[in-house]
Order: sequence, then C-alpha cells, then structure tokens
Amino acid sequence: MTIDVVCVASWNVDLIAHIPQPLQRGETQLAHGFERLPGGKGSNAAIAAARQGASVGLIARIGGDDFGQMGLDLWSREGIASQHVVRGEGEVNGTALILVYEDGDNSIAVYPGAGAGLTAGHVHAASAMLTQARVVMASCEVPLAATQAAFEIARKHGVLTLLNPAPAMPLPDALWPLVDVLTPNEGELLMLAGAEDVDTAAQILLSKGAGAVVVTLGERGCALFRPNSQALYLPGHPMEVIDTIGAGDTFTGSLGAALAQKTPWPESLQWANAAAALSTQAHGAVTAMPTRAHVQNLLRPKPRA
Ligand code: RIB
Repeated sequence: MTIDVVCVASWNVDLIAHIPQPLQRGETQLAHGFERLPGGKGSNAAIAAARQGASVGLIARIGGDDFGQMGLDLWSREGIASQHVVRGEGEVNGTALILVYEDGDNSIAVYPGAGAGLTAGHVHAASAMLTQARVVMASCEVPLAATQAAFEIARKHGVLTLLNPAPAMPLPDALWPLVDVLTPNEGELLMLAGAEDVDTAAQILLSKGAGAVVVTLGERGCALFRPNSQALYLPGHPMEVIDTIGAGDTFTGSLGAALAQKTPWPESLQWANAAAALSTQAHGAVTAMPTRAHVQNLLRPKPRA
C-alpha cells in the first residue's frame, strides 16, 4: 500500500514563555504567559501534511517518559502511522525551550534527547514503508546519518526527497545530490551558501546538487529556484501574526503533501505559502496548523468590496 509522505522526524515538547523582548546575556525577564505544546520540526511537518489530507508515516526515536507518550497520543489523534517510532526506555524525550516576543518572533533552544539516537539502522528497519512512499521528508533536527540512509533508499526507489535544513548546519557532500527539494528560510539559505543575497545563495546550493531550492521569506512569501529556470517568487498573505513557531514546518509539510499528489509547482507553492500564513494565527506550532478546507478558504477569490 502506498503512503503519501514519510517523515524522518524529531519530536519535542515545546516549553514556551512569552516575554516582551529578546533577552540580553545575563538578563532575567518575567514572562507574562507560558504554554507546554507539541513541537519538533519533523512531527510538526508530518502533522501539517496529514492536515492537508496526506497519509503520513513517521520514523522517529522518542523518550520513554511522559513526553514520549504525548507524541504517540498526538499522532494517533492526527491519524499518523507510528509503527516505526522507537522508544528509548529510560531516556528523556526531546525538549525545546522557546521564548516568544511581543511581535510574534521567537528564539529556540532544542535538546534532542532520545531523538539523537536515531540511526541509519532504524531507517533501514522501516525501508518497506519508505519504498512505498511518494515523498520522504526530514529536517536537521534528526541525525544526518539517518537522513542520508532514508534519502539513499528513496533515491533508489524513485521517491521524492524534501529536506528542511533547520537548524542550519553544514551538510555532507554526499547528501546534497540526494536532496530533490530544499526548504530553508532566508537566514538558513544565506548561512548554508555563505552568500549575502537570496538569488546568489540559491544558485550556490543548486550547484552543490540540490534539485530545487524553495526559500521561505516570512511575510514576503517564498521563492522557487531550479537549475536553468527563472526564479518564481510568490507574495505572502498579509496577516496580524500571533506567533511564528512552526510556520516553516507547516510550509514544508504542506509542500510535501502537495508534491505527493503531483501538484504542479506554482499551485504547490501557493498552497504551502497559504498554510504557513494561517499557522501564525494562534500560539504554538500545531494549534493553528490549517486543514485543507482552511487553506481552500484563504485561497478562494474574494468578492470585490
Ligand atoms: O520549528 C519550530 C520547532 O522547532 C518547535 O516546535 C521546536 O520544537 C523546534 O523543534
């Protein structure tokens, strides 16, 4: 049986404090709000894809603690297959400490916990699911060896690979040619390429072997770069932002779901762009992650006033 999207995933519990402005080194501020919510770039993208109607399966390593159980309960509610999620008994789950500022922007420190133990061996154990997939996604929150193994299997079986290079880190030379679609944000793109503008940076990453670079530009939308093609820029959706946690993951997961249906590039980007904008309308990564109907509604032509 085919599965639309397999995600080699991180799973974190997000501990989120709302403070007026970024902390200075050594400074303490009183937070005026606190939440404990689901997170992890991989799990977030998987949920985004599932809410867009994709069938989704996970390959992940989670804690043997209560936070690990929260993930299993969440994926069961979201209809995501978790038979290839392994628990590290006696190990703590991944945790993200997140500070959200008054303008909706944030800073994040991730401790991967049991997720750091995800290996190529775990990926190979799930190869039957991977070979049946249309799209395989990963982020840099999981060990690169696991992503490399998953993308090698995907490449051999004609499965599209999608990498969200977050948090940004140098990628091994051998991984670049296995990446069909890369979805950095602007900062990650510039850092990975060592360049100062988006167009130059995207060309550098294409020359390393990535098949397509899709850069998310926040409220300015997104842009697609492919070899020997003109860049395609899409504008953003102007909205009052409540918080941006998980907006990039929503973009990646929604793009994965659209590409799994062989949706043409312009429509896939439009869809992911709209989903990411909607995800900023509530606190936390998955709270405002939209369904297909929500995205359709945003993209429906509005009657003129
Ligand atoms: O991209 C947002 C996510 O980054 C959060 O949910 C947090 O867990 C970190 O992984």
